[in-house]
Amino acid sequence: MPGQGYRRVLKMTEVNEAPKGAVPNSDGAEPLVKLRGIDKHFGPVQALYGVNLDLYSGQVTGLCGDNGAGKSVLTRTIAGVHHPDAGQIFFEDRPVNIRSARDASALGIETVYQDLALADNLDIVQNMFLGRERLKRGLLDEDSMEKQAAETLSTLRVTTVRSIRQPVASLSGGQRQSVAVAKAVMWNSKLVLLDEPTAALGVVQTRSVLDLIKRLRDRGLAVMVISHNLNDVFEVADRIAVLYLGRMVADAPASTFDRQSVVEYMTTGTTSGRPYEASAAASGEV
Ligand SMILES: Nc1ncnc2c1ncn2[C@@H]1O[C@H](COP(=O)(O)OP(=O)(O)O)[C@@H](O)[C@H]1O
Ligand SMILES: [Mg+2]
Repeated sequence: MPGQGYRRVLKMTEVNEAPKGAVPNSDGAEPLVKLRGIDKHFGPVQALYGVNLDLYSGQVTGLCGDNGAGKSVLTRTIAGVHHPDAGQIFFEDRPVNIRSARDASALGIETVYQDLALADNLDIVQNMFLGRERLKRGLLDEDSMEKQAAETLSTLRVTTVRSIRQPVASLSGGQRQSVAVAKAVMWNSKLVLLDEPTAALGVVQTRSVLDLIKRLRDRGLAVMVISHNLNDVFEVADRIAVLYLGRMVADAPASTFDRQSVVEYMTTGTTSGRPYEASAAASGEV
């Protein structure tokens, strides 16, 4: 039937078409990643309700929210650990199903978790290549792995480690986090997700991780960073997004917020002062 064939062609075009209503950022770029209408529940607990979010290359998005707001669930959903019950993720304008961390890596999405970042008993090189070891004639290609690990650390100016062959257990918290970040960006990543990367760090170590985050942005990566510390967020974030009880209640350039408005969004889901102009993402257009 000609009618059916026509409908099928139309459908394919729709899928391949760029989603409408994407919000270009100030220099007109389209988001690298778009989340639209993401729902996620665990049994009776609804962790995310219709979440929309845009993440841009060359920008740091600070994801804020009180404990239990859904920040980690959202991160793990983008990272392929959780699967949304509803909604769609678009990567470079294509609808994607990210079913595993491997799927995420294949797209160029890498995640740095606060705790699970590294294996203590392994050295820096082993950690950076864990599960993705390079082989040469059936043996581990230690030379080439060592060379690339050293190069990555040096381009990110992670210079305080004495030897890349020292076990990760012997590193300071800041060094560990730097190695975890370097590991994440070594794989041609396009998006790096950092869930509370500075939570366990002192002032100096936090400083070096924040500098590292800025360097990722300067290398053109999209970065999403979760932090409880609004000083950190305001220092590195180009955009700020706020989750409140599983709902995205704000998502806009950082310059449109002040500390008080972010705190209000985090604690009440709304703000009485500066009106929040919903972006296309926040208002749910695709
Ligand atoms: N694996 C899970 N099983 C059941 N409930 C979960 C799971 N992960 C998160 N939750 C629940 O989802 C909500 C959001 O959690 P989370 O994303 O960890 O919050 P946070 O913003 O502090 O990172 C919480 O109510 C939490 O208890
Ligand atoms: Mg969390």
